[in-house]
This record gives sequence, C-alpha cells and structure tokens, in this order.
Amino acid sequence: MAEERAPENPEGDEPIKKRKNGLYPAVSDELAEVMKSGWADTELHDLQPVEQAPYAAKRRAALSARFPGERLVIPAGNLKTRANDTEYAFRPSTEYAHLTGDRTQDAVLVLEPRADGGHDATAYLLPRSSRENGEFWLDGQGELWTGRRNSLAEGERLLGLPCRDVRKAADELREKSGAVRVVRGHDAGVEAALHDKVTAERDAELKEFLSELRLVKDDWEVGELQKAVDSTVRGFEDVVRVLDKAEATSERYIEGTFFLRARIEGNDIGYGSICAAGPHATTLHWVRNDGPVRAGELLLLDAGVETHTLYTADVTRTLPINGRFTDIQRKIYDAVHESQQAGIDAVKPGAAYRDFHDAAQRVLAEKLVEWGLLDGPVERVLELALQRRWTLHGTGHMLGLDVHDCAAARTETYVDGTLEPGMVLTVEPGLYFQSDDLTVPEEYRGIGVRIEDDILVTADGNRNLSAGLPRRSEDIEAWMAGLKA
Ligand code: GLY
Ligand code: MN
Ligand code: MN
Repeated sequence: MAEERAPENPEGDEPIKKRKNGLYPAVSDELAEVMKSGWADTELHDLQPVEQAPYAAKRRAALSARFPGERLVIPAGNLKTRANDTEYAFRPSTEYAHLTGDRTQDAVLVLEPRADGGHDATAYLLPRSSRENGEFWLDGQGELWTGRRNSLAEGERLLGLPCRDVRKAADELREKSGAVRVVRGHDAGVEAALHDKVTAERDAELKEFLSELRLVKDDWEVGELQKAVDSTVRGFEDVVRVLDKAEATSERYIEGTFFLRARIEGNDIGYGSICAAGPHATTLHWVRNDGPVRAGELLLLDAGVETHTLYTADVTRTLPINGRFTDIQRKIYDAVHESQQAGIDAVKPGAAYRDFHDAAQRVLAEKLVEWGLLDGPVERVLELALQRRWTLHGTGHMLGLDVHDCAAARTETYVDGTLEPGMVLTVEPGLYFQSDDLTVPEEYRGIGVRIEDDILVTADGNRNLSAGLPRRSEDIEAWMAGLKA
C-alpha cells in the first residue's frame, strides 16, 4: 500500500505531497467532495490527565527556575525515513517525554518567558487531520494512514498544558526575539528556525541541566522502572523455557523470545537485546544475534523491557545453556558474582558514585592475581587498571528513560558526584576472555560473563529492583531446572 495522489491543498500554502507511481493519477472533484463529509464527531471530552502530568509540571517548574527570562524549546523529534514513504519506529526525545509525559512525533514543548521570571509552557502538537483538504486520507501522515491523533483540546486535557498547532511553531519561533535555547539533535526544522538565535554552548547547558534533572527519580518513575524490570524478569524466564528449542536454532530465537514478552505486555525494548552465546559473550555489545546456541556454552543475555511510558530496564544474566555450569565457567561466574555483590553493597546514599565501581573492580583484580593471570600486588594492578584487559568497561551507569540515562550531566554531578536516594543505577561487572587471547590458559578463552542488576538508592542503602532473577551460580541452576521442568 502506498499513499495515492492528492489534490491541491485548498487550505494550506503547500499542495499535499504527491507520490510518484501511485495507481490513481488524480482525485475526481466528486470523490474529493464525498470524502469530506459523513464522518461522526469523535472528539473525546472525558479524558483524564496522564499519570505523569503533575510530575512533569514540577520538572518544568525546575527548568523554568534555572533559565529565567529565556525561551526554552524542547522538541520531541520527527520520523526518520527508512526508505521512500516508510519510517523507522518513532520514539520521542527523552527530554520532551520527561517534561510532558507525551509520546507523539513532531511535537515541541516551548517555555515562553514571562516578565515575572517564570514561564508559560505550551505543547505544540500535530493536530487531527483536516477532512476539508483531504489530507486525512491522501497524505502519508494523514490519520487514515497512521491512526487517529489527539485533537489540541484533547492534548490539553491529557497533558495539562495549553496546546497549539505545531505546524505554526517554526514560524512563530523564527519571528520572536529574545534569548532562546533549544535541545539539539531532534528536530532539524525547529533548529533551522532558530539557527541565528542560539549558540552551541548555551544549548549544551540546557541539555546538561535536563540530564541532571533526571538523576533523581520521583516515586512514579521508580514505579515505572520496577514495571520495566518485572516485565524483563518474565522475559528472561521465557528465554530459559525455550533454551532447549533455541539450542536447535540460534541467538535470533532468544532475541525474538524476549521481544515477544515485551510486546505481549504492550511494551518495547529499551535497547537492542544482546543475545550472545558462546564466544560472542566476550563482545560487549553483541547485537548481531545471528550465531548458534550450543549446549555446554554460556548465553550472556543483556536485555531490557521499555514500558509504554518509556522507562527501561537493563539486566544481564549469564546462563549455562544446558542448565549446568562447567568448572571453569563456574569459577569465572562466581568471581563476577562476588564482584557484583561488592559493588551493590557500596551503593548507598552519601557514597561517592565511583565507590561501587572501585569495590567491584577490586574483587576482579584480586581474582585475576589469585588465578595467576596478573602479577600482584592488587594495589599496583588497580593503580594501573591492568585488570581492564578482561573487565573492559565501567561497572555501571544511571538508568531511567534512557538506558544510559543522564549522559549529558556534568562530571561533577555524575561520575564525580554522590549517590542520593532516588537514583537508579546498574551494577554490572564482567570478565571477558577473548577467543584469541594468548595471555590466558586455553580453558578461559571464549568465556564472557556479565551480571547486571538495576539498583535503587534508598534512604538507608539500596534496593535491587531486579532481585526477581537469581544471581548465585547454584541459584541460577536451580531456577533454570525449575522453569524447564
Ligand atoms: N545494555 C547495555 C549496558 O549494559 O550498558
Ligand atoms: Mn547497563
Ligand atoms: Mn545491559
């Protein structure tokens, strides 16, 4: 199916875009006329605000207080073309979603400065398609092609914000004077309208502030993250149940099984699932997922459900495909588990953010010295970070709307900062022995282990949101046996 050729747009300046090679060369006047009428009024009058609305209002208030007197522009972003008239699945920018609770494409949030130093927020949204000019059935983004949208009045009820037609936004922004900042990277049209009014440095400050605004999650966000994790736990259980079948097929089967769980529950995944069997587990972001799954090897599954509110889990388990670790697999697995436990134990309010990383790396360095892979003392190993040949990556990161959340925060508030209640981070140490690593005995080669959990900083310590999945090697085996029975 492809959109058909359209008449000139009688209301707008632009003709509705015409498609080459459509089978209908034109729309007759009679057909155009008949399509305009005979449609019921479907306006929804009893909509309640989205759950996020009061939280988003507080976030906008914090944003307003940080940038008095300045116009702030936060686009949701546009569809990205895959080919011709097909697009990639849309996900709004994290900044826009956080500040509105909305998920629609092409939208723009504008905070207009007031004389008293505050701001008036307006959500510019793509309104319902016009019936008058035929766009609803003739334009590729018309509602009969892509689905019903909210009217602007409905948007106001849902978001608790005044809403305007986004097709006017670029012109309005272009015409206004005064200081303005935009979150870059999402909407080329909006950025073009503002190009002579903004600077890269000032826009980066806006993005940085919005990243830091997400460092501490409110109760509603913690609830959403818990839902994401709970669904992820069910996805991991699904994978274990099909591992016998997967043995006969491939990592693709694992990927599809996990994705099915996300879809069954109305969700998506927050990043490309890493379904790494055998030596693929030593590739940190193995998302090709096109290899075989063989009994006797390990499966490193790093996957996270993203709720329909766009909060994502990020969980890893490394599983013996046939249900039992070999001796060398268990030795490496147990070392990573001990490291992870040391990392989790270091997550508490008032601790330096780096503490959990340092604690986890220390255990891994000790093991590598103990196994004779590194010369001690451990202090020297840690000082020179020699363990990194096999640990490779940092031990965790902030989690939230983005899998690597708050990435634009200043170093002093993130990796050099202090943990506070409400922060959610992953703790995910690993050991990775590449197949071609001649510095380790052969039995280590091709083994990769990562264990990753999502940890909430609480008032007196932490809570493991992903505690629904076992972590100790013997508990993993018992859990797998129970699910396959
Ligand atoms: N799933 C990517 C990561 O663990 O950071
Ligand atoms: Mn992670
Ligand atoms: Mn992960």
